[in-house]
Amino acid sequence: MDYKLNLGHSLDGMSLPWGNASNGHIALLGQSGRGKSYAIKHFLSQLPEQGVHAYIFDCSGDFRESSMQEILKSTRINILDVRQQARVNPFRSLQLTPYYTEEAGDTAARLTEAILDAYRFRGTAQPVHLRRAINLFMQAFPHSTSFANLISFIEADSERAAKMEPSLVRLEDLSRLFSGGNGCDWQFDKPGITILQFDTIPDRASQSLITELLLSDLWADKLQASKDTCPVVVLLDECQRFSFNDSSMLVRILREGRKYHVNGWFASQWIDNKTAVQALEQAALRGYFYPGDRQVHSLAKVLCSDTSKVREYETLIRRLTVGQFLYTDASGHLLIDCVPRL
Ligand SMILES: Nc1ncnc2c1ncn2[C@@H]1O[C@H](COP(=O)(O)OP(=O)(O)OP(=O)(O)O)[C@@H](O)[C@H]1O
Ligand SMILES: [Mg+2]
Repeated sequence: MDYKLNLGHSLDGMSLPWGNASNGHIALLGQSGRGKSYAIKHFLSQLPEQGVHAYIFDCSGDFRESSMQEILKSTRINILDVRQQARVNPFRSLQLTPYYTEEAGDTAARLTEAILDAYRFRGTAQPVHLRRAINLFMQAFPHSTSFANLISFIEADSERAAKMEPSLVRLEDLSRLFSGGNGCDWQFDKPGITILQFDTIPDRASQSLITELLLSDLWADKLQASKDTCPVVVLLDECQRFSFNDSSMLVRILREGRKYHVNGWFASQWIDNKTAVQALEQAALRGYFYPGDRQVHSLAKVLCSDTSKVREYETLIRRLTVGQFLYTDASGHLLIDCVPRL
């Protein structure tokens, strides 16, 4: 594991440390207002002194500089306005493992998947047109770095443009919100906190696609960076809005991040989606805040393999107050953590 944490304390005041787990991934789940973001701020405050650089994908605006500065005191916080400053090239061929760098066709396929996943086009026609258009565009303009150029390419052929009208509408939104560029300096050489602000990207689908593009770029740069650069934590608050499909960066981070010192922290309200639940099961620390009345029984079943004890667990869950979460420690004991007041 790349870092250790003081999670808080138990109900009887014993300090609860976290370290030496199989991976550094964390999932915090629970109803709105129960203290997930608050707990994350407590955890984040412990990272820079351990040489870690944390990247906060702040789609909800819960991690504004003012609230973070109070907690982090002397740590320098970099703010990146995603719309203005995240100059990531969406058409970049990425190195995804030490042995595999994408060819143009692979990049086109990945990018098409990400666009389709975010915008959920109906029917089968748009996926086919889009993939073909991105492929042809990347062959014709291998050095292009923005969606605006892709739109011009599609529009240059009026027949193609007519068939791709639904895709074009989305690509136009995207090109307005995300201008692209030649790369982002992730600063892996220094510990610290970088907050990626999404305030000026209003719609969720675009937030989710841009997050995917940024994560891909960060991942590829981290793999290429020298071995002695800082371990990374990537925080995705309110991650119920993202897709956890097999080709997404979130799943790649959970599956392979440990090897490259990329740790994923995920916070979410109750998640039913099976793919997301399975993906998050890979997090070594899974903390459950009060999930909401309707989910008490489901959570008790998740935590307890012995069906005769489900009632007991339900009582335990109902007693959780704001700022408390249940988790299983490395020895398999179920504990209640009380996150301290910041
Ligand atoms: N450990 C704590 N000690 C004191 N107050 C807390 C604690 N945890 C949470 N709170 C209070 O509860 C409020 C809500 O917490 P927080 O924003 O972390 O909830 P959340 O679970 O992230 O909700 P959402 O899902 O809506 O983002 C905080 O603003 C704070 O006032
Ligand atoms: Mg929150």
